[in-house]
Amino acid sequence: MLDHLNKYLKKIIISILISVIPFSVYSEEKNIDFIKNNWSFDGIFGTFDRASLQRGYQVYKEVCAGCHSMQHLSYRNLSEKGGPEFSVEEAKVIASQFEVEDGPDSEGEMFMRPARLSDNFAKPYPNVEASTAANGGAYPPDMSVLAKARAGGADYIYSLLMGYKEAPASYELDDGVYYNEYMQGNKIKMSEPVSEGIVEYSDGTNPTKDQIAKDITTFLVWASEPHLETQHRMGFKTIIFLIILITLVYMSKQKVWSRFGPKTKEEEEDETFDKVEKVVTEYEGEDPKTFK
Ligand code: HEC
Repeated sequence: MLDHLNKYLKKIIISILISVIPFSVYSEEKNIDFIKNNWSFDGIFGTFDRASLQRGYQVYKEVCAGCHSMQHLSYRNLSEKGGPEFSVEEAKVIASQFEVEDGPDSEGEMFMRPARLSDNFAKPYPNVEASTAANGGAYPPDMSVLAKARAGGADYIYSLLMGYKEAPASYELDDGVYYNEYMQGNKIKMSEPVSEGIVEYSDGTNPTKDQIAKDITTFLVWASEPHLETQHRMGFKTIIFLIILITLVYMSKQKVWSRFGPKTKEEEEDETFDKVEKVVTEYEGEDPKTFK
């Protein structure tokens, strides 16, 4: 029985590996050009680094929010489990630093008021046209789901932020256009947003360019997948559950079918023993007189 079980477990493990390996090979092929990082949120046990998420929010607020909106995020999300996990009080203070439009009031006028937890992130521009006009004809995309919408995800965003280089001599760049190794066509209409010391971290972390790029990337990945940690936990529990279920099903199948299968050595021995015992009982049951 134990032997069978071992064989079966091996089969389960091999089939899980077979189903997982092609995925990782595939995704590696797709991102091959991007800079690779070991993100804490990768893999089925992946979780976000809270401190990095909080710093990432700081980078978004102080640098990116000047041009990029994040309209699917609300200030409440900042205090939710699985995210940066600011306390509710902290999130309230963060929200109150922004103004959002509300109304109409009793005179029919729209008015501005400080944001609340339930409000979505304040936008830098009222609409796409305004933001495109202000950025030399290029639209700074909304960042709520950017990490998910782009092939390469985290590695793409990190690479793009680190990928500003001096343009090769053959390149002609118009005003407001920059050379970037990882942008399609190598031309981007966003000036290099991240550089050493562009933010001063309140937790004392050294704000190197690499650190800032990692923190904002982590923040953007969380924003596009706020339930990633719960999903990872569920996925792991499901796999454990399936392994237990398959093992139980296999064991009961063995038990039911063992009656019909070929006899084992033990069963044969048992049978011979039964026969002998029967003969002996019959023999012992004989009338002792006749026996004599
Ligand atoms: C001064 C305005 C401005 C700031 C500040 C800014 N961006 Fe941008 N960003 C743009 C514009 C404009 C584009 C579109 C560029 C293009 O299409 O050529 C863009 C594009 C991008 C893209 C590429 C999106 C895509 O379509 O693949 C990423 C990623 C990005 N920005 C990240 C950031 C991050 C992260 C920050 C903050 C650290 C930031 N940006 C700050 C204006 C800005």
